[in-house]
Amino acid sequence: MTMQTDSFLFFISIAAAVLASIGIYFFIITRISIIVQSRSVKSDPDTAHIYWIYKSPFFISLMDRMFVVSSILLLQYNKLVSCVVKRLNPSLKGKRILQISCAFGNISEKIAERCAEQGAAEFVLTDIMQSEVDNAQKKLKKFGKLCTFLKQDATKLEFEDQSFDYVVVFFLPHELPFAKKGMLIEEANRVLKPGGKIVFGEFHKPRLKVLEILGRIYFYVFEPYATEMWDEFDIVKALEEKTGNHYIIEKNTFLFDNFQVVAAERPQFQNQA
Ligand SMILES: C[S@@+](CC[C@H](N)C(=O)[O-])C[C@H]1O[C@@H](n2cnc3c(N)ncnc32)[C@H](O)[C@@H]1O
Repeated sequence: MTMQTDSFLFFISIAAAVLASIGIYFFIITRISIIVQSRSVKSDPDTAHIYWIYKSPFFISLMDRMFVVSSILLLQYNKLVSCVVKRLNPSLKGKRILQISCAFGNISEKIAERCAEQGAAEFVLTDIMQSEVDNAQKKLKKFGKLCTFLKQDATKLEFEDQSFDYVVVFFLPHELPFAKKGMLIEEANRVLKPGGKIVFGEFHKPRLKVLEILGRIYFYVFEPYATEMWDEFDIVKALEEKTGNHYIIEKNTFLFDNFQVVAAERPQFQNQA
């Protein structure tokens, strides 16, 4: 065997070992979380759909790592985050921005950076889990008073009607049971000002059959409400049906349509749902 063949095989083995380790790491963590959750005697209907990995500070510290979020999103995480941040346009100067649910990765930091650069009035981050709110607060300490952190349920937000210029919903709908998906859309619309924008990042039905098959297996094991995003729940249609507003839509898809970023601008003059 030549030196080149040896080096090639070595590289392939290392790549396979790294991918397998990430897969096993994620599999073990989520399996443990499911077992712990299924044995829990405290059952709150508002949070029963949430994995333990989002509830416990210990699991959050294990999971909130860029290589984990990047692997789960098939190395598309950075592209999706940049697209979401780019869609927060035109300017954030003097604006109020809301992120509904804040968990892993650096999306909140990227939004906060953009808010700071452009002189936004306030960046409000919410999550139903206090542990996630605390984790976000730790990560965004350097932004000081720009950011506000609140524990709130996305399906019954405590904000006034029309109180935000931008609302970001990043990989939340696929975590929610079907009825809650619709309630989330209604709430995002309710708190958004006319002329404001809701920016979603989410899974999308891939056009490659092999990705669809692998995705269905992955969802079956890890994300029981996610295939609804492919089969029954379309973000754009739900926005129209649930709110009666004809949102102006800009949509980007990534990796053979496996992921989507939808920026939905609420017209200035239309029905209040
Ligand atoms: C996959 S993550 C969503 C990604 C998140 N937007 C981010 O920035 O990384 C799931 C998060 O959604 C939160 N969550 C689930 N159901 C919720 C609800 N009804 N209201 C608010 N947050 C919720 C969980 O606590 C968890 O932190």
